[in-house]
Amino acid sequence: MGDTGNYAVIDPATGKLDRRIFSDQAIYDEEMEKIFGRAWLMIGHESLVPGTDDFFHTYMGEDPVILTRDGGGRLHALLNMCRHRGNRVVRCDDGNAKRFMCTYHGWTYRNDGALEYVPGEAQAYYDALDKPSLGLIEARVETYAGIVFATWAEDAPSLEAYLGDARWYLDTVFNRRDGGMQALGPMKWLEPVNWKTLVDNCSDNYHVPTSHLSSARVQTRFLGRPPLSHEDQFASPNRHAFVNGHSLTFRDADDGVPRFVHGMSKETMQLFQEYHEATMPEVEQRLGTLRARRVQLANHSIFPNGILGLRLALPRGPLKTEFWHFVLVERDAPDELKRAIRIGSQANNGAAGMFEQDDVDNWRQVSLASTSRLGRRHPQDLSMGLGHAGPHPDYPGLVSERYISENNQRLFYRRWEEFMNAESWGQIPLDPITAHLGGTATFAGPPP
Ligand code: FES
Ligand SMILES: [Fe+2]
Repeated sequence: MGDTGNYAVIDPATGKLDRRIFSDQAIYDEEMEKIFGRAWLMIGHESLVPGTDDFFHTYMGEDPVILTRDGGGRLHALLNMCRHRGNRVVRCDDGNAKRFMCTYHGWTYRNDGALEYVPGEAQAYYDALDKPSLGLIEARVETYAGIVFATWAEDAPSLEAYLGDARWYLDTVFNRRDGGMQALGPMKWLEPVNWKTLVDNCSDNYHVPTSHLSSARVQTRFLGRPPLSHEDQFASPNRHAFVNGHSLTFRDADDGVPRFVHGMSKETMQLFQEYHEATMPEVEQRLGTLRARRVQLANHSIFPNGILGLRLALPRGPLKTEFWHFVLVERDAPDELKRAIRIGSQANNGAAGMFEQDDVDNWRQVSLASTSRLGRRHPQDLSMGLGHAGPHPDYPGLVSERYISENNQRLFYRRWEEFMNAESWGQIPLDPITAHLGGTATFAGPPP
């Protein structure tokens, strides 16, 4: 590992990864600046603020942020910090308000961030306060298919360029229906892990047969889901692609091969299948035949901290992560289906979810290994499948030859280096957009 701004933590020739990045406070502090201070970060969903003057409290890294929809319907991401002394101007999770009054001295902001009222402006400040320069600090906001992203970096590329060809895969879950999606939740909890350990795991297809053996057996026995042994995993029709540090596992199979998603069981299988068939003409029009019928996004991560749909790994120090779990459902789906997905998603990946509990202790120990004075001298081995990824004739991005590999980890930590070593966005490389979308779905997706 080099000096600040000269990180070389992953060896591309051997896949060895320096463990110190998981517990070092100075590195963590630099991540807050160089990654969370300038990447496009997932912060919420338009359905959380559906009406004018709605707001939702969220985070960009460690920074508290208010996502608002102003009176004109425009979205804003505002730092929840009064410009006077720094008190939080919003103290609740969500609501509807035209203005936010700071409870310390009463400075009052409009929901577009402008400072509107200051007690004693004439008397105490002699009318000399420069109110227009003292609005709430505002981030850039853009949306993809209803998912709200924000960045503090004025020189960041568009969100469309940031996601790049990852969008080709993301559309297959997030941009399927004319009616768009609806976010439920979030469920929130703290995990004693470094945020990167958690993110790199969420596209780690290797751990499933071992870590989740007992959970998978329960699912097979009681829900009729397919087994997840190593043999099954290696024979899986899934593939794995990589774009701009984003990692995308996806199904590559004929439409006749059953699709398994959260909430599917012996009892609900028919409900899911009928919905799939009834909506296919619409989905095919929106996404084109290949993406509608053959491709479906599975485990994935959006650099730096968006994972498995709308789930956020919010850093809270080198060895602590606040995890937010939303369930995204198609707005026009039948209530019965939404209910099955909501329960299934929480039963797998909620705070008490079977799969989540399998994972967290592994992540904790992997993070803690970084604090061992002896252990940290020995790097992680991320050599699986080295040299076995490349372009594919049908699928955009860099595509792994095998569904199970550590291309995901190597590329994630390489992206981490690119952000940590860049002085500005101009030095951060972006893959060109080359994918043919073949459908009518737009980047912004259906109106909220
Ligand atoms: S800190 Fe907000 S008005 Fe003083
Ligand atoms: Fe897992």
